[in-house]
Amino acid sequence: MARPRQSIHGQWSSRWAFILAATGSAVGLGNIWRFPYITGEYGGGAFVLIYLVCIIGLGVPILMSEVLLGRRGRQSPINTMRTLAEEEGARPQWGYLGWMGVVAGFLILSFYSVVGGWTLAYVVRAIGGTFAGVTATDTSNTFNALIGDAERLLAWHTLFMVMTTVVVARGVQHGLEKATRILMPALFILLVVMVGYAMSTPGFVEAMQYLFRPDFARIETEAILAALGQAFFSLSLGMGAIMIYGSYLPAKASIPRTALAIAAMDSGVAILAGLAIFPLVFSYGLEAGQGSGLIFQTLPIAFGQMPYGTLFGTLFFVLLTFAAWSSSISLLEPAVAWLSENRGIRRINASIIAGCIAWVMGIGSLLSFNLMADNKLFGKTFFELVEYLTTNIMLPLGGLLTAVFAAWIMKRSSSADELGLGESPGYHMWRFATRYIAPVGVALVFLQATGIINL
Ligand code: PHE
Ligand code: NA
Repeated sequence: MARPRQSIHGQWSSRWAFILAATGSAVGLGNIWRFPYITGEYGGGAFVLIYLVCIIGLGVPILMSEVLLGRRGRQSPINTMRTLAEEEGARPQWGYLGWMGVVAGFLILSFYSVVGGWTLAYVVRAIGGTFAGVTATDTSNTFNALIGDAERLLAWHTLFMVMTTVVVARGVQHGLEKATRILMPALFILLVVMVGYAMSTPGFVEAMQYLFRPDFARIETEAILAALGQAFFSLSLGMGAIMIYGSYLPAKASIPRTALAIAAMDSGVAILAGLAIFPLVFSYGLEAGQGSGLIFQTLPIAFGQMPYGTLFGTLFFVLLTFAAWSSSISLLEPAVAWLSENRGIRRINASIIAGCIAWVMGIGSLLSFNLMADNKLFGKTFFELVEYLTTNIMLPLGGLLTAVFAAWIMKRSSSADELGLGESPGYHMWRFATRYIAPVGVALVFLQATGIINL
């Protein structure tokens, strides 16, 4: 059945353009900054395994669901959910799912931009040759000096947010699409180089064991929730980013193949990052669970030792900045699309308004590392609280509801039609995973982590 609906915001030039954009959204700080540090906090192997299980069992089917809802609705997540709810004879309250996504997007962007600012700061440090011959103490001093300086963080955060806003203002289809085509593969290659270096360090074997030999005795429910959250965060799921990108997808493109490709690339980059970082952690006697500064305190040691370290270091942080940039625009896009659809605000103004809101909220996060480091709620700083709330709660909840809508509320004929699978085995697998595995999995992890049930 041909769908006449078109997005007023434009369309990708091809399926490849969508894959690039969606991969640009998925691959970012989540893979290279967050995955290693969370893995370190939860003790390695078992966490990694649970994370990968979540990606395959819950991530891929929900990724397909988000793309399919987006393409069918062809609007911002809020209006897409409202329209589809009406078409499928469901309650209009499904629009709130879109709302939750927009809010989650702002919250994530607010701290994402702060960390994006760190990567920008590190580009400058790398160019200046700061890493030559550094020790573990030097790198941690450099990092602590950066995050301890609120004004400096504010400047970098502001720059990163301006970069994000500019691209969104121009329309994501014209923005980073071309740059991503070259920079993503380049980042991948550079990570492989870093893993090559890490293999030459004495800690490599220990790191392999740490990452790939699961020790379930050390796993707590909290770790399972964290793995689930990281899977959603990494695949950009549960907040409408993939939904809005799906709304620009040409009608003929195959959703299942696309989703698998994105998930494979995203996980590949995360694992490579782990393989590049943990050998250094063990070789230099660093602490795996030291927290959000992990990559900034380990990788510079490698750059300081390896040949052409200044060049590689600079390239690395430039590419990481691009990866973060192509993700941050997808965090802002759902809100901007909504503002321009419903309020008739021009895209450029909508971008500025949304960018400013996220920028202000980000200030809370950047102060968490210095002036407000001791102001804690539930034992967490503002930054930690926002990160926890969005990643471990809002994204899985958004993903759960997306799955429920796609597989329980939507008519079977609608989803089969949109996925282009007909009544094939592939379709049955998707439907089973989205109907049962994903919602039950997320619900169980939630209930267990909140102590409501105890398995
Ligand atoms: N997936 C991105 C990353 O791994 C972060 C992100 C989360 C982007 C949610 C969009 C939506 O860095
Ligand atoms: Na990711």
